[in-house]
Amino acid sequence: MMQNEIDMFGRKGGGRPVDASPFAQPDRHSARPLSVFRIIAIILLPLVIFITIAESGVFRPQNEAPAQPIDFSHKIHAGTYRISCLYCHTNARRSPVAGVPSVQRCMGCHKITAADRPEVRKLKGYWDRKEPIPWIKIFGQPDFVAFSHVAHVRAHVACEDCHGPVQKMDRVHRAVDLTMDRCLSCHRDRQASIDCVTCHR
Ligand code: HEC
Ligand code: HEC
Ligand code: HEC
Ligand code: HEC
Ligand code: HEC
Repeated sequence: MMQNEIDMFGRKGGGRPVDASPFAQPDRHSARPLSVFRIIAIILLPLVIFITIAESGVFRPQNEAPAQPIDFSHKIHAGTYRISCLYCHTNARRSPVAGVPSVQRCMGCHKITAADRPEVRKLKGYWDRKEPIPWIKIFGQPDFVAFSHVAHVRAHVACEDCHGPVQKMDRVHRAVDLTMDRCLSCHRDRQASIDCVTCHR
């Protein structure tokens, strides 16, 4: 990699620190007492970063199946009633993100179906308040990975290859660990690109 190129993680010059000297010049500001704002920033920034990363699902333990705000079951919907994955995760057909269905999509059936059950009443609560359901995210990739659903849906790669047998799960967990090795080995088998820039931009 050339010195001034931006590398795959957005760092210049191959990620080399700009000032490599361990004995940097004395800091002109070091004598000044830290301002309250700086102290707050120093405490808050790592916290915000930590929460963002934790929320993204990147570090969620593989087999953890967290309780969701509504006890939604793939086993009932995609298993027993065989509702197509793409009926609810419609965006996977045309965009990088598969997305979760809107409350409206659920209510298309549940205005009538099982309307008296407690978990469906909870659903109707979100509908009446016009609130989105705060589903907890299960799968995630670090920011330096450029993943896209649409390419895989077009190439007829099954959801199950990457997400496991979701149609058998009452609660979704990461039955498959999507490491780089796993991406690469399928890309090799299926003659898809294994150039670094395919997945790291
Ligand atoms: C295409 C129709 C359809 C859609 C769309 C749909 N459901 Fe269902 N849902 C069903 C059917 C059918 C059942 C089974 C009802 C039964 O057991 O009699 C069910 C059952 C449920 C139950 C379990 C009820 C109970 O306690 O037995 C919940 C909760 C639920 N759905 C939530 C949702 C949510 C949330 C969404 C949107 C993400 C959704 N459903 C979308 C048809 C649908
Ligand atoms: C009736 C609508 C519906 C159908 C059909 C459905 N899903 Fe889902 N899916 C949801 C909802 C709602 C969530 C968010 C709550 C949860 O995780 O259970 C979700 C979550 C997921 C997640 C976890 C997303 C994350 O947070 O990382 C995966 C993976 C997934 N679905 C795959 C599938 C697959 C594969 C199928 C077909 C076998 C399918 N879904 C069918 C509604 C649906
Ligand atoms: C080649 C592997 C692969 C295939 C095939 C695949 N997914 Fe995913 N899916 C992922 C990865 C990786 C993520 C996490 C993406 C991220 O965090 O950027 C993800 C995330 C999701 C999510 C969470 C919301 C989102 O879009 O980030 C849902 C829902 C989902 N997938 C559903 C599906 C469904 C339904 C199918 C089949 C139509 C499918 N996936 C096929 C790898 C795959
Ligand atoms: C089970 C097989 C399989 C797995 C696992 C898989 N892929 Fe793919 N991927 C494919 C196929 C097939 C294509 C389509 C190649 C084509 O259209 O020529 C593709 C295409 C892509 C593309 C689009 C390439 C382009 O030229 O537009 C990206 C980006 C990608 N995959 C990233 C990933 C990442 C990241 C992972 C791991 C999280 C992954 N894939 C896991 C089979 C897979
Ligand atoms: C098909 C998609 C894909 C391709 C092609 C790919 N990577 Fe990755 N890479 C990933 C995914 C997904 C991750 C994050 C998951 C993980 O760490 O295993 C990752 C993580 C990494 C990491 C983070 C360190 C680590 O191992 O966790 C490095 C460094 C990396 N890739 C370098 C490369 C280089 C260099 C190439 C080209 C030779 C390359 N990658 C090609 C998907 C890909």
